[in-house]
Amino acid sequence: MIKEIHAQIIHDSRGDETIQATVVTDSGHSGSSAVPAGASKGKYEAKTVPAAVAVENVQKYIAPALIGKDPANQQELDQIMVALDQTEDKSYLGANSILAVSMAISRVAASEKGVELYQHIGSLDHRTGFNLPVPMFNLINGGKHAENNLDIQEFMVIPDRVQGYHNQLSAGKLIFSTLGTLLRGNSAFVPIGDEGGYAPSLDTNEMALDLLVRAIKESGYQPWEEVSLGLDIAASSVAPTFEISPRRYLGLLSDFPILSIEDPFNEEDWDGWSQFRKLMDETNPTSKRIMLVGDDIFATNPSRLSKGLELKAANAILVKLNQIGTVSQTLNVIEMARHAGYIIIISHRSGETLDDYIADFSVGVNAQFIKTGAPNDNHPERMSKYRRLLDIERQLFPNNATTKQA
Ligand code: PGA
Ligand code: ZN
Repeated sequence: MIKEIHAQIIHDSRGDETIQATVVTDSGHSGSSAVPAGASKGKYEAKTVPAAVAVENVQKYIAPALIGKDPANQQELDQIMVALDQTEDKSYLGANSILAVSMAISRVAASEKGVELYQHIGSLDHRTGFNLPVPMFNLINGGKHAENNLDIQEFMVIPDRVQGYHNQLSAGKLIFSTLGTLLRGNSAFVPIGDEGGYAPSLDTNEMALDLLVRAIKESGYQPWEEVSLGLDIAASSVAPTFEISPRRYLGLLSDFPILSIEDPFNEEDWDGWSQFRKLMDETNPTSKRIMLVGDDIFATNPSRLSKGLELKAANAILVKLNQIGTVSQTLNVIEMARHAGYIIIISHRSGETLDDYIADFSVGVNAQFIKTGAPNDNHPERMSKYRRLLDIERQLFPNNATTKQA
């Protein structure tokens, strides 16, 4: 039974204020969780309130409504908060106030049951068998996440054909370090972007892709056969001078070993999305299914996703808990997407905290991928998730996982 709920202000990786909530039960268990923040936020995301207001809302309105309830009943408790808020976009209490408590509820419920968080999330998602997601490492940052001249927001490497999570993490770290050496060849200092990747200024976006292919090869991996590339265009917040064109994207897909392309069109451009998916389905010449990933277009929102499914707008969804604002609504969106055969990618935000919640969440829902920035040891807000996944791998597959530390 929930005895107390507290909230406090903490700072995220950009130094901005955010909220952390702690839920305590009468059996002496407690669970805390913190909410991240985006920079290239979608228009259809749930709304936040300033961190100080969020803390007050938790203490004044949310806590009194939940005290005395059983934290195992995630859906019921989330429903109480949604009803208390009374708005479609959570603008009254703030998605940040609600989500901090919602995540903390699942943490304390897991702790009361004596199970790992991913196991508890799995039981909420009606599953018992688990797999590790493949990490999508954002090694070059551009767009709103960096001060450089690259329009595309994220240039990722995806070790999708490297076996075993610990080997995938090692591949990501090695490629990141090789890339650093290649970039430092041009200039002594290479800036770092919000998600821990390099943020160099380069003549073209294609040059960034060339560099990643070189870094993959020079690290001893085969591009495409072992390690692929991913892009997040973030078209809804890309510079107006960037040319959004299906022909251009198809050119990139044929010139580079790209497995995943996220938000290539604006969040309002349903036609652009549907036509591109059709084009991709017709021209996809490879054995691998190329992912057309909806982030801002779906905003982890069931009505947006349902429209997208009807219009065949994409084939994969980027899931961010704070786009919708509760754990159980996020699980519902995942269920809808999975049912339609969509690939599930669990994602961090560009402004992150040390909370590793999404690592457990991604395993709990058996997501195929997780996107949580660069494997950069100077960025603990990214590494906390990658390291937690190593722990989970050791628990789930003790014979496969090595004892090597990341
Ligand atoms: P954001 O970016 O967290 O700044 O919104 C992440 C993304 O667009 O995937
Ligand atoms: Zn995105």
